[in-house]
Amino acid sequence: MSGYKLLKKGGSVTDAVEAAIRVMEEDQHFNAGVGSALNIDGEVEMDACIMVGSNLSSGAVTGVRYVAHPVSLARAVMDNSNHFLLGGEGARRFAKDRGVPLVPLNFLLAQHAQQDLEEYKSLIARDYRFVEMASGCGGVGAVAVDGKGRLAAASSTGGRLGKLPGRTSDASIVGAGIYADDEIGAVVVTGHGEAIARYVMAHEIISTMKRGFEAGVATRTVVKGITEKFHKPTGAITVSKNGQIGISFTTDKMAWAYQIRDDVHYGIDDYDHFSEKIKIH
Ligand code: GLY
Repeated sequence: MSGYKLLKKGGSVTDAVEAAIRVMEEDQHFNAGVGSALNIDGEVEMDACIMVGSNLSSGAVTGVRYVAHPVSLARAVMDNSNHFLLGGEGARRFAKDRGVPLVPLNFLLAQHAQQDLEEYKSLIARDYRFVEMASGCGGVGAVAVDGKGRLAAASSTGGRLGKLPGRTSDASIVGAGIYADDEIGAVVVTGHGEAIARYVMAHEIISTMKRGFEAGVATRTVVKGITEKFHKPTGAITVSKNGQIGISFTTDKMAWAYQIRDDVHYGIDDYDHFSEKIKIH
C-alpha cells in the first residue's frame, strides 16, 4: 500500500517498488533488513536489486552489512554509479560516500534469526543431509505498473539461513531473481537462489510472456518447470505491461498482495485469495 500511495501522489513506479520493499525491510517477519536470516557465522549479509523497465537500468548490492535499507543502496548504485552491482566493503563505502544511513551491526540481528540459526546448526550437526532442507530461503519483492504501462521491480533478502559468508543470492542478480521490461512485464521471484540463478528464472518468465503467454500462465509454467528440474521450491509474482497478474509458488507458503485502485488482494497458503476495499487518500 505504501507503494500504491506513492503512485497515487504522482511518484514513479521505481519510487513505488522501493517504498514497498522498505516497509518489508523494517518488518522482522520477512527475511530482509531487520528480519534477515543469518549466515553460518551468525552475521547478516544482505542482497538487493532494483530494475526500471523503461530503459532496463538496474542497481544491486550483495553481501551488505550496516545498512537498514539495502534496496535504497541498490537504488543509489543505479542512480549514482556506472555499475550494476556492488558488494561487501565497497558497497559499505559507497553507502557512506552517498549519505545512505549506516546502522550498528546488532540493529539488524533479530532474536528469531539467531534462534533459527541455532536450530539449523543442531539439525545439520545431527545429519548433514539436512543442510538443504533446513536452510529455507526467501526474501521480499515488489513489482509495479502505472497507467502508462511503465514497469519496475525490486527485491531484497538476507539470503539463505546458514549460508557461507560471501554467498550471493538470486535477489541481486538481474534475470535470476528480478526483471523489468516495459515491452513485456516485471517479475520478482523467491525460493532456492542457486536453482533460480541457474534457471535464470525471472528472465525465463519474461521470455515466456514474450512468446505470447499470459502473465499467470507464464509464471505458473516456469515455477513448475524449475521445481521439476531442480526439486527445489520457488515462487514468483509477475505483472504484465497491461496489468495482468501472475502469482505462483511451490514453497510451503508465499505471502503475496497486490492493489488495483481501492481493491487489495492477498493470500499466503495455496488457493488463498482474499480481497477487501481500502480507500487510500
Ligand atoms: N532467494 C533468496 C535466496 O536464495 O537467498
